[in-house]
Amino acid sequence: MKGRFITFEGIDGAGKSSHVEWLAEWLRAQGKTVHVTREPGGTALGEKLRALLLNDDMHLETETLLMFAARREHLARVIEPALARGEWVVCDRFSDATYAYQGGGRGLDRSKCQILEHWVHDHVQPDLTLLFDLPLDVARERIVLANRVLDRFEQERVDFHERVRQAYLERAQHHPGRICLIDANHPLENIRQKLEQIVIERCS
Ligand code: TMP
Repeated sequence: MKGRFITFEGIDGAGKSSHVEWLAEWLRAQGKTVHVTREPGGTALGEKLRALLLNDDMHLETETLLMFAARREHLARVIEPALARGEWVVCDRFSDATYAYQGGGRGLDRSKCQILEHWVHDHVQPDLTLLFDLPLDVARERIVLANRVLDRFEQERVDFHERVRQAYLERAQHHPGRICLIDANHPLENIRQKLEQIVIERCS
């Protein structure tokens, strides 16, 4: 039995995280063993790196290297062992986020991301990536309504988030077999139906 690796992506406020747990429960109801995890994070060390990445000011290349350092740990200790056991991994963000945020948002040379991607996970790619997309003003409104302390990325200006969104959409164009675009501006029920349908089509 082959395990499956599904990642969730999107700009801040796209609402993807609320669908992660739901999809995992739906998969469990189909008899799968499912691990829900996230990036940056997913291991004890990764969660420490997450706290630094979300709160401390740092050089762009340091930020990128730490994202991939956390990812290496995550792959080695959680993702790869689970897939090897034939289990499913549902992960809130993965390397597409580095291309979108550090590459698109902050302007890191794409080739540097590619070098790190090859080094860290040349042999592992998600089977399916669900990219939640919606207009920036709607995403911003959701963040404001949540009324919580914003992290370093959420505090960025609108033009940063617009570049992140565009970089995600470009990745979806370049990887149509893996990345599936979800219109996140629809009612929850419609989105869930769509997720079921996509997972059945692409991961059976
Ligand atoms: P989250 O709020 O979806 O958990 O993600 C945390 C933040 O980290 C989010 O604003 C996007 C950012 N991020 C990057 O900038 N690069 C990455 O590679 C990853 C995984 C996340």
